[in-house]
Amino acid sequence: MQKTEEISRPIGVFDSGVGGVSTLRKLHEMLPNEDFLFYGDSKNAPYGSKSQEDVYLLSKDIVEYFKQKDVKAIVIACNTATSAAKERLTKEYPELPIIGIEPALKEAGDNNEQNILVMGTKLTMKLPKYQKMVNEYSDTRHIISLPSPGLAEYIESGMHDDEALKGLLQNLLASYANVPFDGVVLGCTHYPFVAEAIQSCFRSNIAIHTGYEGVANRLKKLLAGLGLSSNRRDEGSVSFDSSSHDSIQYYEKMFQTR
Ligand code: DGL
Repeated sequence: MQKTEEISRPIGVFDSGVGGVSTLRKLHEMLPNEDFLFYGDSKNAPYGSKSQEDVYLLSKDIVEYFKQKDVKAIVIACNTATSAAKERLTKEYPELPIIGIEPALKEAGDNNEQNILVMGTKLTMKLPKYQKMVNEYSDTRHIISLPSPGLAEYIESGMHDDEALKGLLQNLLASYANVPFDGVVLGCTHYPFVAEAIQSCFRSNIAIHTGYEGVANRLKKLLAGLGLSSNRRDEGSVSFDSSSHDSIQYYEKMFQTR
């Protein structure tokens, strides 16, 4: 393949559903000359209540789909799939650069936050990858891990009911109302779409971490290292696909939301 042809291939980005669109926005902003193809597995969402093996198999199907589309790299824009499947997929597809978003504990740590709340899916939090990360920081920080069932489902289904969201957050967070958190790590890519509602449950200047910058910087570095960065000057394209065709419009709408 000619070099120009090789580097002008798109980057595949996937999630269990609409959540990954929040990551995609940042990737497009930080790598504006790249083409992106987003795939949301909304038919099979949520991933967070499934087994590791099921999430691995679903993720593998998506990697196969991206291979058909001849992507030059893959970004797993799903903390759950990163924890459950990235290591195996990286071994199985050595020819394909794969990176994945992770709960931004490092960002919170670097920001010198002492009391940190991490919200994520049940599966992310029970897997060794996350446990190991928490252990690394636990000597010097106070970290509370809060599996947040229902939240990704609410966002995935269109976020139509503010009262339902309030109730959901109330249930999840009420017992932590008096903990003086310095920061909240949103360890699921769906949650940033309700970041304001989460923030309003705490004192006003609490830091919110999404992990976007980290994954966008890693992608930039990875492409540059492989000589695969786009060399065009105009803006790259962003296109959407889904296992549930009806969800594509929702992804497009959320991509435009700032
Ligand atoms: N958006 C996903 C994550 O980052 C998973 C949500 C779900 O499907 O449970 O973990």
